[in-house]
Amino acid sequence: MKILVTGGLGYIGSHTVVALQNSGYDVVVVDNLSNSSIDVLDRIESISGTRPQYQELELRDKSAVTSFFEKHKDINGIIHFAASKAVGESLENPLLYYENNLNTLVYLLQECEKHKLANFIFSSSCTVYGEPDSLPITEAAPVKNATSPYGNTKQIAEEILVDLCRVSETLNSIALRYFNPIGAHKSAEIGELPKGAPQNLVPFITQTAAGIREQLSVFGDDYDTEDGSCIRDYIHVVDLANAHVVALERLLNKKNKSNYEVFNIGTGRGSSVLEVVHAFEKVTDQKLNYKIVDRRPGDVVSVYADTNKANNELGWKSEKTMEDALESAWEWEKKVRGI
Ligand code: NAD
Ligand code: WQD
Repeated sequence: MKILVTGGLGYIGSHTVVALQNSGYDVVVVDNLSNSSIDVLDRIESISGTRPQYQELELRDKSAVTSFFEKHKDINGIIHFAASKAVGESLENPLLYYENNLNTLVYLLQECEKHKLANFIFSSSCTVYGEPDSLPITEAAPVKNATSPYGNTKQIAEEILVDLCRVSETLNSIALRYFNPIGAHKSAEIGELPKGAPQNLVPFITQTAAGIREQLSVFGDDYDTEDGSCIRDYIHVVDLANAHVVALERLLNKKNKSNYEVFNIGTGRGSSVLEVVHAFEKVTDQKLNYKIVDRRPGDVVSVYADTNKANNELGWKSEKTMEDALESAWEWEKKVRGI
């Protein structure tokens, strides 16, 4: 079975390529290297023992996408990660986000229709829920007004899939709504490597511990939560990668209940920012330099998944702990920095 992974040299994509290879799939990766580097291919090969097929491809180039599918007529499934993902940047440059996250999806789906490709997994996000009315969040919770162009692209992308699945004779699609992915592969060969100052909590923590950032700012300790800091559902990227294999197999084995399905992919456990900081200190046995600062505009207070549908219907469950994830993130950071 040959699986196309778009954005397969990126953070979540690279871990998923390894998981697919470990399950016996042949993988073809396409990436434009806008947020990744070509040496990830070597790193994937050093973990799995197999180098995935690779083509540098700009998915915004419709004719290049068409040519790619003319050449690869034997694809059995697609996992579509490629997108731009920085919330702040999307506010500054919305058209980049609408083009990169939506045009690319449309071009891929046009090829799926043309070549009657059936199995399509899409990277969605818990960001579609906004500030939830109740916790934990089930897939039935309403999609709220997006607070950023990035978030809006995920909502519109899901609508595109719903609309197409309503009329398509061949397409079957699953949107996975990821909560907060963290951590790295245990080999420390692949992990998250943000360009510039990290916007996300865990890379900021590991870069602070590595001495690249002076101090972590904890954005607010006056929220209505137990310790006053915000709560999120942090999921180990290796568990998240495995969820893609399970979702793909659901489609390949025609176990899906409808041709468009949505699953939350989280742990079901909420952790506060301060809990993450203290867990990091514990697993790495060092003090982290942090201070409490004002709230970050746009942050939601508390978000964590109801995982019943993923556990019972999809047959996937997260296995690793937040401590496992923080330890692996730290091992990765040390390796990248030569510490
Ligand atoms: P990433 O930036 O590490 O990976 C995305 C990859 O896609 C990169 O290698 C990039 O070079 C490539 N890419 C981007 N635009 C492309 C284009 N036009 N053509 C070809 N390749 C292109 O991001 P990630 O964290 O691995 O996220 C993967 C997916 O998961 C994205 O769709 C993202 O929105 C979604 N997601 C991420 C998170 C998160 O916190 N990391 C949470 C929820 C959803
Ligand atoms: C987590 C918590 C911050 C940095 C974002 C996107 C979302 C999704 C995941 C893709 C929050 C706090 C952070 C720091 C801090 N991505 N924090 N100091 O905001 O839950 O979600 O990434 O779909 O769309 O919005 O993740 O890692 O930025 O923040 O105190 O330096 O850590 O306030 O409570 P978030 P995050």
